[in-house]
Amino acid sequence: MAFDEIFQTLKFRNLTVKNRVFRSNVSGRFDNYDGSGNQARINWEVKFAKGGVGAIISSFVPVHPRGRIVPNYATIDDDNRIPFWTKVGEAVHAHQCKYILQLSHGGRQRDIQGIQYPKGLSSTGKSDPSNGFPCEAMSPKDIDETVKAFADGAWRAREAGLDGVELHGANGYLITQFLSSAINDRTDKYGGVLLNRARFVLDIVHAIRDRVGPAFHLQMKISVQERNDAVATFHLGPSGNSAEESVQVCKWLEEAGVDAIHVSTGSFFPHPRNPAGVDLPVEELEKTFDTMISSGDRAFRNYLIFRSLPEVARRQWQDAAPKPHEIEGALLPDARTVKAAVGIPVICTGGFQTGSVIAGALKRGDCDAVSIARPLIANNDLVEVFRRGHDRADRPCTYCNRCLVNVVENPLGCYEESRFPSRDAMVAQIMSVFNPPPFV
Ligand SMILES: Cc1cc2nc3c(=O)[nH]c(=O)nc-3n(C[C@H](O)[C@H](O)[C@H](O)COP(=O)(O)O)c2cc1C
Ligand code: SF4
Repeated sequence: MAFDEIFQTLKFRNLTVKNRVFRSNVSGRFDNYDGSGNQARINWEVKFAKGGVGAIISSFVPVHPRGRIVPNYATIDDDNRIPFWTKVGEAVHAHQCKYILQLSHGGRQRDIQGIQYPKGLSSTGKSDPSNGFPCEAMSPKDIDETVKAFADGAWRAREAGLDGVELHGANGYLITQFLSSAINDRTDKYGGVLLNRARFVLDIVHAIRDRVGPAFHLQMKISVQERNDAVATFHLGPSGNSAEESVQVCKWLEEAGVDAIHVSTGSFFPHPRNPAGVDLPVEELEKTFDTMISSGDRAFRNYLIFRSLPEVARRQWQDAAPKPHEIEGALLPDARTVKAAVGIPVICTGGFQTGSVIAGALKRGDCDAVSIARPLIANNDLVEVFRRGHDRADRPCTYCNRCLVNVVENPLGCYEESRFPSRDAMVAQIMSVFNPPPFV
């Protein structure tokens, strides 16, 4: 089979990418505690560049240390970070692959808060309902400083020679906390009607354009449907933004100078629909969730829920998730809705790993590119598999989500033992990210 649609170049306003497969945002806690980066991150990104993806979109890169979600994720909060990101970009560019850095701020939603800032910042003073980390509602001064931190981050990414930036406006992090009708409870000009809730991200876009000009690629990842009420046990409140509201936000983003939209879902992370799994890996979760128990006042409660009520939690989670055969391309209807409303390219995430499915979506015009996380963790060379004419890798990703639940405690890699000849082979694959070694 030839998948011509996959291998067409994609031209954004300010960036050309050699094919239609992007590595979606994903990384392990490979970097240093202080937010500096090391060789392991470079090794990680190079795996995918070598494997043939057109562009890599980095994982969550905090624009400020207070915006970190776990320690050991490299940041872009200071000019002294620029040389590291230059090295990452050069290593990836050596394989004709582009690198887009995800400018991020966790706000109140964090997994492990670290020692620097026990309290998060948010649109609201209500703590994150998943883990219960305390937070403060941002003052006008906090908002101005954070907007500037995003703009400075974009400027540093450009100085580092990277190919663009993505705003992490999805999955419950700070930008979602402003956008979401389920989370934002402000009464000032940043809360209330949709335009007010969108003001924070639009301020960021304007500040970035003022700082870097019109010629640097800028895209936004957004949860088109928030589905905040997906799991009843967690009492997270109303459903949040609808597709209609998010489409309006995308139109405003385009007008403000955003070059592409990256479609995702969910007002919190992980969410039953992102990344959607065949089952909730409760036993694996019990092994790693202890890392977070001492951090937030709800993490322990959720741990007990997982331990004592696995069936209830599991059933609600799975009821809210797509059926296993619907995981691949589950967000294509949202991508289609956004694409019909905007003139800029649309990238869609969610379960992609079959050449004919991706080519079909591109051919129909549902989206202009797909982004892939877990199936590329499982098969780093998936694009080369398609180039050889195969529809799927020999050992596809099973969507078991074991990689996801291990990431807070262990190095990121594929943890589905059934995909490997032995446990040793699985561990060797996980540990390969430390070769060449991060420290000498
Ligand atoms: C371990 C793990 C870490 C992730 N980290 C991020 C992240 O830092 N930023 C982000 O926007 N999405 C993140 N995601 C979501 C993925 O980028 C992707 O959108 C989602 O997993 C759906 O794609 P997939 O089905 O190809 O995995 C993460 C997903 C996984 C599994
Ligand atoms: S552990 Fe491996 S098979 Fe399971 S979801 Fe992650 S990448 Fe896919």
